[in-house]
Amino acid sequence: MRVAMIGAGYVGLVSGACFADFGHDVCCVDKDPAKIEALNRGEIPIFEPGLAELVAKNVREGRLTFTTHLPEAVKSAEAVFIAVGTPSRRGDGHADLSYVYQAARDIAAAMDGYTVVVTKSTVPVGTGDEVERIIRETRPDADFAVVSNPEFLREGAAIADFKRPDRIVIGTEDQRGLSVMNDLYRPLYLNQSPLLAMSRRTAELTKYAANAFLATKITFINEIADLCEQVGANVQDVARGIGLDNRIGSKFLHAGPGYGGSCFPKDTLALIKTAQDYEAPIRIVETVAAVNSQRKRAMGRKVIAACGGSVRGKTIAVLGLTFKPNTDDMRDAPSIDVITALQDAGARVRAYDPEGMDAAMAIITDVHYARDAYDCARDADALVLVTEWDTFRALDLVRLKAAMASPVVVDLRNVYRPDEMRRHGYTYVSVGRT
Ligand SMILES: NC(=O)c1ccc[n+]([C@@H]2O[C@H](COP(=O)([O-])OP(=O)(O)OC[C@H]3O[C@@H](n4cnc5c(N)ncnc54)[C@H](O)[C@@H]3O)[C@@H](O)[C@H]2O)c1
Repeated sequence: MRVAMIGAGYVGLVSGACFADFGHDVCCVDKDPAKIEALNRGEIPIFEPGLAELVAKNVREGRLTFTTHLPEAVKSAEAVFIAVGTPSRRGDGHADLSYVYQAARDIAAAMDGYTVVVTKSTVPVGTGDEVERIIRETRPDADFAVVSNPEFLREGAAIADFKRPDRIVIGTEDQRGLSVMNDLYRPLYLNQSPLLAMSRRTAELTKYAANAFLATKITFINEIADLCEQVGANVQDVARGIGLDNRIGSKFLHAGPGYGGSCFPKDTLALIKTAQDYEAPIRIVETVAAVNSQRKRAMGRKVIAACGGSVRGKTIAVLGLTFKPNTDDMRDAPSIDVITALQDAGARVRAYDPEGMDAAMAIITDVHYARDAYDCARDADALVLVTEWDTFRALDLVRLKAAMASPVVVDLRNVYRPDEMRRHGYTYVSVGRT
């Protein structure tokens, strides 16, 4: 099948490359000429394991192309995916749908013959109705269906998630549209990924419900961790003790500095706003969002406490900047709040991240960016582990201690064992473990 993917960001590029790998003919469109030029030179604008190889293979085999010229991609496509950003709107937290609506207008002007327009971007309930209205208004003669197909991939494991999803959600009332989506995803449900057909509005809400539930689970264990610290209990044992219960499940029960990233913060906010607008407020998610945003800065205070109550004039080393390992995505990363809190309290910050430093430099200034973990720790009065990259999991504790001015480690991901750290002579603070 011929597919146009509008937006060649994380989701568009990964989905486009995977659809091409299934054998479809995919053209990825982006309005950012620098991104398209880079892709056409064979450079991948983001760090995502396996993506460079997958893109190169499908370009070489002629199934994947890139352009800034939307009409040429849309004209011949049977399915046109909208995979543009839906960031928080400044001021009120609603999803900013201006990119989606612009894409809808551009697609409407260019489409030719029966076309299935698929929203893959995460969009509030009712957006599909508005996309349909825009297309009909722009092109009263057009033959089309608007389908919701939310994406559940995780950055860092995006290709595996796309190729072996837990489920595929298709929201449409249009039988022809559903059958095109079935054909597109056929290679996947042959692999036994269930394809769930539902109404368009239900599909739109399903995506937000999934993200809000996961954000709630993380926030729940984070608050249990705080209680563990007060009562002398161990949050990792609690998490295992509840997670092995199949009704609960062990995923997303790792206590840490609070969730960040390109999805959970903005999607919880957007769901809260939608629910308020429909006078069905989801108070549990309102609380989750409030607790989480306070938590990130509270992690800065945790470091200050570990340094004896003041970091003024002290050097703090920060390991890991991206919102999670195996991505270079810095959007809403907890490291930003932690570093800002430390700088506000008068600390000098040294930082290192295996892949995220270019993106970090554009956001976090006044930081010394180090060459590696040991260079980062040099002369530091304390070290904070914020993102649990594999390379930080087996640091040489003797070498690290020798580099530091004072052996204080604040491990916000519970990577190390308290007894081992103590044996090496560290003052060691972690999350929900005493
Ligand atoms: N990143 C994730 O892990 C993830 C996972 C699931 C769902 N989502 C959702 O998918 C959507 C896209 O997210 P992302 O992280 O890929 O965003 P992104 O910011 O990485 O990419 C969006 C791209 O769209 C391009 N664009 C915007 N308007 C355009 C237009 N009119 N024509 C052509 N290109 C246009 C931008 O230049 C940009 O390259 C969002 O709604 C997001 O919530 C993201």
